[in-house]
Amino acid sequence: MGAPGGGKGTIAKKLLKDFKITAISTGNILRSHIIDKTPIGKEAESYVKDGKLVPDSVVLNILKQELDTKKGETILLDGFPRTPAQAEKLKEFFSVDVVVNLEVPHDVIADRMSQRWIHMASGRTYAYDYNPPKVKGLDDVTGEELEQRPDDKAEVVKARLVTYEAQKTPLLAHFRALEGCTVETFKGSESNVIYPEVKAFLSNTFQL
Ligand code: AP5
Ligand code: MG
Repeated sequence: MGAPGGGKGTIAKKLLKDFKITAISTGNILRSHIIDKTPIGKEAESYVKDGKLVPDSVVLNILKQELDTKKGETILLDGFPRTPAQAEKLKEFFSVDVVVNLEVPHDVIADRMSQRWIHMASGRTYAYDYNPPKVKGLDDVTGEELEQRPDDKAEVVKARLVTYEAQKTPLLAHFRALEGCTVETFKGSESNVIYPEVKAFLSNTFQL
């Protein structure tokens, strides 16, 4: 869990290098659907564009499809669940052992979003001041052009932060009450500083 721009994707990428896990980002999957203009993409587009949550039924279907292809693997969910209703549904087919909750100040976030550039097709993320691409404006792997996410405009970022804050407290309460689930909060403004703490925590808690 973490606010938009709070470093979920950045921390997830680092975890994938250090642990034998697979990540699912509902945001990345939705963006691919939007680019490909699939029926899901067409339904999701206006919500994402306005910084609102896509209906629970849509994201749940996406998630179930993804999980079906990853049976038996240890999964890191990035950006799911986002509402108590999604969390309740998730309980029926997926067991959550740990919630990594990232708390990053909102002023830091607003600044970063203006710097973020992504490779739309893969979801690879760059920031010109933090992890710049090898060639300005181009993806390291494919050489294709980088773009700004349409929902990274200042006013949409504001809407996304409001949406996140409204769901955060009930969602954390859900996981704190969930048997067998540990919730750990990491505070700070630098993913490079937060990450070693997340890594140490997961190494000490799990055999991954
Ligand atoms: P999603 O793609 O999940 O977006 P989000 O939650 O708004 O989070 P972001 O991906 O924007 O940020 P992040 O936390 O991954 O941060 P990042 O690592 O990139 O969802 C998008 C939309 O899809 C939602 O608004 C919603 O409409 C829909 N959706 C998705 N899931 C849904 C669900 N379950 N239910 C309903 N709707 C759903 O970091 C941010 C930036 O900071 C990057 O540029 C990064 O390089 C930079 N950065 C990181 N660390 C540092 C550092 N130390 N110093 C400087 N820069 C840094
Ligand atoms: Mg992300």
